[in-house]
Amino acid sequence: MSEKAKLVLGENTYELPVITGTENEKAIDITKLRAQSGYVTLDSGYMNTGACTSAITFLDGELGILKYRGYSIEEIAEKSSFLETAYLVNYGKLPTEAEMKAFSVKVASYDDVPEGIKTQIKAFPKDAHPMAVLSSNIVSLSAFYHSLCAQDLTPAQKDEAFAQLIGQIKVVSAYAYRHSQGKEFVKSDKSLDYCSDFIHMMTGDKNVSRDVAKALDVLLILHVDHEQNCSTSSVRMVGSSKANIFATISAGVDALWGPLHGGANQAVLEMLAEIKDSGKDYKQFLAEVKDKNSSSRLMGFGHRVYKNFDPRAKIIKVACDTVLNTLGVQDPLLDIAKGLEEVALKDEYFVSRKLYPNVDFYSGIIYRALGIPTNMFTVMFAIGRLPGWMAQWKEMVEQDGFKICRPRQIYTGDVTNKYKDIKSR
Ligand code: SDX
Repeated sequence: MSEKAKLVLGENTYELPVITGTENEKAIDITKLRAQSGYVTLDSGYMNTGACTSAITFLDGELGILKYRGYSIEEIAEKSSFLETAYLVNYGKLPTEAEMKAFSVKVASYDDVPEGIKTQIKAFPKDAHPMAVLSSNIVSLSAFYHSLCAQDLTPAQKDEAFAQLIGQIKVVSAYAYRHSQGKEFVKSDKSLDYCSDFIHMMTGDKNVSRDVAKALDVLLILHVDHEQNCSTSSVRMVGSSKANIFATISAGVDALWGPLHGGANQAVLEMLAEIKDSGKDYKQFLAEVKDKNSSSRLMGFGHRVYKNFDPRAKIIKVACDTVLNTLGVQDPLLDIAKGLEEVALKDEYFVSRKLYPNVDFYSGIIYRALGIPTNMFTVMFAIGRLPGWMAQWKEMVEQDGFKICRPRQIYTGDVTNKYKDIKSR
């Protein structure tokens, strides 16, 4: 017999269905709560609220587990590639050789953007943040691809949009970087793999080391999807109004930009550099972080779901040493990061709040070692997360009972006001 939750409100008792996920997560289904009781629920920040069911990604925050379509992140990061992982999250299965070849060719075919987009990128000030350039040019693609702006895309159009945006986010990001450096755009080279070509389009050098390309590929894999995080939830929210896919993804880019979310990777590097330049020791800096009157946060630490190590942070930390050793890079900021982690993990403030390094704590160190500038770090996060955003959007629009997202609220404002003429106010 299916599990029920009993809710007693005054004289009335309501039975609410309990649903159990395939990883034994439990949820009280309140779909009919307001109709039955007149009550809604309130959950600021959605700390306890499931917005949807999803078969794409699973996290266990207590055990530090992350899986894409049932595959552990550790196995995927070790054995897969970014494009193969993109295929997996979107289509729900690992591709055959033929499927992978066709998908890679289709992504590589989107090796440029319309002239109008190029003109628009060049119109930005050179010191514009590349996330502004990315977000505005992603939504601007809707002006050039009308057929993909239909309210309901066919399966073939969804496949096309998926490959197109994976291809073109790389192009727009590389062009944005080149423009910020006052350099000419570098044309994509289809003979290179996705990551090598991205680095080639940023640097103009086709000789990209395998180690560098592999390190970037692993970083992109680790960022592909992460359940209903802020930017993915924004994609679902905007996409639920049947806004076109370009506007929908642009909303994800905007949400990701925030320093509490994807912008944290840039904020971590700025924090480490500030500690280094100020000569502060870790204890001094952490004392500021713990001071309630200070706005300082240990960026790259803490997570809404992970109350244990973020498994991605563990993988990236190991990759940090490997990549820096391979490249012969000595980065004092890595030593500061490791020192901060060591001290914080023994400090009651962090331990009691279950604050551990998250995906953003070490990722910037690797991007820096790969020659990617700090203000491009969140763009790298967006490139990695794009397949997850699109997979989640596709899952939403194809789900039975798909509805526009429109949360309720509890009103706490004035009740009855009478209009007064301006002269009498
Ligand atoms: C990402 O959701 C996802 O899955 C996101 C992501 C993904 O892949 O999509 O994993 C990517 O966004 C990772 C998070 C990157 N952000 C940062 O590193 C920014 C620093 N971290 C925090 O701001 C914070 O930890 C959040 C935003 C990540 C989570 O915030 P919550 O869940 O709302 O928790 P909270 O702010 O209520 O903190 C609880 C307590 C508070 O102290 P008290 O009020 O209980 O005394 O912990 C403290 C906070 O002050 N705290 C921190 C802290 N994070 C939480 N104190 C110092 N430094 C921090 N980093």
